[in-house]
Amino acid sequence: MRYFTIRRRRYWRYKGSTLHHPIGMKKLDRDRLPRHIAIIMDGNGRWAKMRTLNRIQGHRKGVEKAKEIVNHCSELGIEYLTLYAFSQENWSRPKAEVNALMGLLKNHLKSELKMMTENNIRFMSIGNISQLPVSVQKIISEVEEETSSNSGMQLNLALSYSGRLEIVEAVKKLAEDVMDKKIAIKDITEDMFSGYLYTGDMPDPDLLIRTSGEMRISNFLLWQAAYTELYVTETLWPDFTSTHLLEAILDYQHRERRFGLTAEQLRIRAAR
Ligand code: IPE
Ligand code: IPE
Ligand code: MG
Repeated sequence: MRYFTIRRRRYWRYKGSTLHHPIGMKKLDRDRLPRHIAIIMDGNGRWAKMRTLNRIQGHRKGVEKAKEIVNHCSELGIEYLTLYAFSQENWSRPKAEVNALMGLLKNHLKSELKMMTENNIRFMSIGNISQLPVSVQKIISEVEEETSSNSGMQLNLALSYSGRLEIVEAVKKLAEDVMDKKIAIKDITEDMFSGYLYTGDMPDPDLLIRTSGEMRISNFLLWQAAYTELYVTETLWPDFTSTHLLEAILDYQHRERRFGLTAEQLRIRAAR
């Protein structure tokens, strides 16, 4: 067995891995995997530009990458994966780009149903779905329905998504329930409010990865990311591989999540 170094840490090269990547699974703590990973898949346009391709070719490559990472997360045993595929703000991009993205979505969602079924993946869309073309909405409903009883990884695809809008929509639903006397204002809690979001009772993301080096959240999971560990890589999304994913998870596993406590308090808790 050989080892190699990433960021001054040594990882074992694991030859027999069924996951086809060079980083030793031995160093990845299987008991401390993030339950929920969220990814801002950014950089398709720049990737294409660097190769004098058009932006749409970048998105095509991006879709291939998304499939690879979905498979890998499912194999690793990640419980929830949330991919930011199209933001509410992305509607303002050139019409040809928006149309191409909708086309890609339609074709690939349908063709990926088989893969999701084989891998026991439950698919769910989050976002302002009614704004999507009806043909896309139809496929989304079909895939959601067909995979609804799968018990493996839950894949959330954020489409026409805005974190602020999600919060406003949740407030509206909550206000309706107050008006209908289903709940009293004094009983509103953070947990209850979370339940009104698209993500319902899913756990908050533990790890949020953003590719292409941008140090911003771009209206993604604003409420849910309150204590999420952020990981930004310069790698453009079409260049992102399973190895990059493992690097991000390893980095996450070396962090101390303090949730406002002191390091000393954490040590005492851990010793109990
Ligand atoms: C991310 O890549 C995909 C979408 C937002 C749909 P971009 O298209 O934003 O790529 P860059 O940021 O222009 O490189
Ligand atoms: C965020 O990327 C949205 C997606 C990856 C789908 P953008 O490229 O739209 O974000 P900004 O404009 O750089 O903040
Ligand atoms: Mg971008």
